[in-house]
Amino acid sequence: MTGTSDGLEGVVAAETVLSEVDGANGRLIIRGRSLDELAGRTTFEDAVGLLFGGFYPDLPADIPAALGAARVEVFAEVAALDTGLLDRTPIEAMRALTARLADGDDAQVALRLLAAPAVFTAAVVRAQAGEAPVAPDAAMRHSADILRMLRGTPATKAEADALDTYLVTVCDHGLNASTFAARVVASTRAGLTSAVLAGISALKGPLHGGAPGPVIEMLDEIGEPGNARAWIEAALARGDRLMGFGHRIYKVRDPRADALKTAVRWLDARQGRLEFAEAVEAAALAILREHKPNRSLETNVEFYTALLLEALDFPPSAFTCVFAMGRVAGWLAHAREQLSGGRLIRPASVYVGPMPQKAA
Ligand code: CMC
Repeated sequence: MTGTSDGLEGVVAAETVLSEVDGANGRLIIRGRSLDELAGRTTFEDAVGLLFGGFYPDLPADIPAALGAARVEVFAEVAALDTGLLDRTPIEAMRALTARLADGDDAQVALRLLAAPAVFTAAVVRAQAGEAPVAPDAAMRHSADILRMLRGTPATKAEADALDTYLVTVCDHGLNASTFAARVVASTRAGLTSAVLAGISALKGPLHGGAPGPVIEMLDEIGEPGNARAWIEAALARGDRLMGFGHRIYKVRDPRADALKTAVRWLDARQGRLEFAEAVEAAALAILREHKPNRSLETNVEFYTALLLEALDFPPSAFTCVFAMGRVAGWLAHAREQLSGGRLIRPASVYVGPMPQKAA
């Protein structure tokens, strides 16, 4: 291809102070802090403060209280859930409710957008199971309230800590597809809600945020460690990709996978499931090395995301929504960074179609 980069690989499309994906060293840096330092020690609210610093000057100092109030505010939109929406996938229903929020660019709108995926996902999952929505509790930690809104009963501290670890682990990740989509929309001055909707839409695809649901399907179909090799060989022979493996940038390790594996270990009840998953992971890595010796295909964030969210009782159909609950912080920070001096994003293309015929 002349002058183009397939999938924009290697193209630098923005300068950012928000995060650095260091693929060669398997490291993620979020505003000067390494993920290894943040994950498991930071709440989602603290991560929001870190990402939003300097970009949302009107953000209240007490982010936990402000986010709690925003959860209560957006819950009013849950009344719009109707059978038409409940027939859709959770991420489509959650996206439709999020689209009801007013566009704008102040800190209040950003707080509502931060709260939206959490509140709407919990309500959609419950409604699809025939259960009434549970109203938010503004006084609770975001992660603990998400689990309470989802299940109707209080979460343990270990469960809330595990969900916080997940939300912080995925809160930002350089110029991934959904963040790029959010920045493109922000660059047109279309507003924060539109930028977040673009992010949700890009995240939904199986090559980005849609992979962890199929990871559970793979584990369930394999059933026991002895079946792993035959199942994986057959999948690769069909030309399928193994969900939860490979990454455009990480070629040595995906540090997010390590952080989430640690968090899964806190949830004692699922130890047997973790051991089984580790056996499948080991088989998959060995077989990928045999099949693609020139590619460095390692476990990515989605493999352990699947185990963690399953252990927290999220249905696989809603896993991508939970990804959005964390990544929305990054989209909102990137949207403001884009607006602070960035130009309209408008790349060029190379025309390879036919030219008009010259008049005879
Ligand atoms: N299983 C089997 N083969 C794979 C896989 C996989 N998971 N990933 C890449 N390959 C092969 C691919 O077939 C190709 O082989 P060849 O050149 O011989 O045809 C080669 O590796 C390179 O693939 P690519 O599609 O050019 O690489 P990419 O950088 O565009 O793909 C990826 C990155 C994440 C889309 C890909 O690894 C993939 O499809 N993985 C499975 C889906 C998945 O787990 N997605 C979650 C990604 S992590 C979340 C996030 O950060 O968004």
